[in-house]
Amino acid sequence: MNTDTHRSNLAEETCATCGGSGWKIVEREGISGAEKCECVNAGRVGRLKERANIPPLYEKASVDNFVLPPDNPVARTALATVALTVRGYVRDYPSVPKPGLLFIGAPGCGKTHLAVAALAGLIERGFEGVFFDFQALLNRIRSGYDQASGTMDREAYKAALDTEILLLDDVGAHRVTDWVEDTVTSIVTHRCNNRKATIVTTNLRDPEAGNQRGSGLESDLYSKFFLEERIGMRARSRLFEMCRLIRMPDVEDYRLKKR
Ligand SMILES: Nc1ncnc2c1ncn2[C@@H]1O[C@H](COP(=O)(O)OP(=O)(O)OP(=O)(O)O)[C@@H](O)[C@H]1O
Ligand SMILES: [Mg+2]
Ligand SMILES: [Zn+2]
Repeated sequence: MNTDTHRSNLAEETCATCGGSGWKIVEREGISGAEKCECVNAGRVGRLKERANIPPLYEKASVDNFVLPPDNPVARTALATVALTVRGYVRDYPSVPKPGLLFIGAPGCGKTHLAVAALAGLIERGFEGVFFDFQALLNRIRSGYDQASGTMDREAYKAALDTEILLLDDVGAHRVTDWVEDTVTSIVTHRCNNRKATIVTTNLRDPEAGNQRGSGLESDLYSKFFLEERIGMRARSRLFEMCRLIRMPDVEDYRLKKR
């Protein structure tokens, strides 16, 4: 795209500060100079948002509108800590110990809400990222492979490998096959090797999140399956290597509460 079309796109609603040129004149210590106008970044953020594929239900999800339960002090404290962690991650990325986040918790506790909040916060800062429902991504990749034409539509697969920030929502919600395990392992390995941020949500159990096998202590809120059983040992191990674990406290399902 040449600069002129770029400018005319940005100037759709002509910016009052720069008149659509993308540059504004600033005076500093008596010397005037040109500086990039804020509207340039606003245009970029708008385009990044359009491409991020965030489902309409979560379009407005943010840490600011994440409600802490008033009636459950234990969950309230735990969720306040989670919210702080997400805020800190968005603020500090990419200078964070692990590039991604792994939300583990029961259905309706706000995992996708917070994962989207993190992704949206990073997009707001100018980073590029894409939301994928885990199963939908696998279906799309598979339909590409199955095409009789022999030409593979690997667009979804490539996007999952290459995007700067990948949100994989509801990992392992369905039955695994060797094919699924291999595909997930290759995506996760590629992203891990290149230290690319991956934000994951799941309601599978995992010993790291305090769910022991057969302990009988875990609540019935979780899926009865373990992460390792659904995505394989290798993908699981890499997820923990590249993601900070966020174990969601047990709270009442927000979807049921809202009704
Ligand atoms: N604490 C909260 N404050 C405000 N909205 C919330 C909160 N928790 C959840 N929600 C909303 O409730 C709905 C369900 O939450 P969400 O989809 O994030 O749950 P989840 O943990 O991802 O569940 P699942 O495991 O079923 O995918 C969403 O619309 C979300 O925006
Ligand atoms: Mg979810
Ligand atoms: Zn401007």
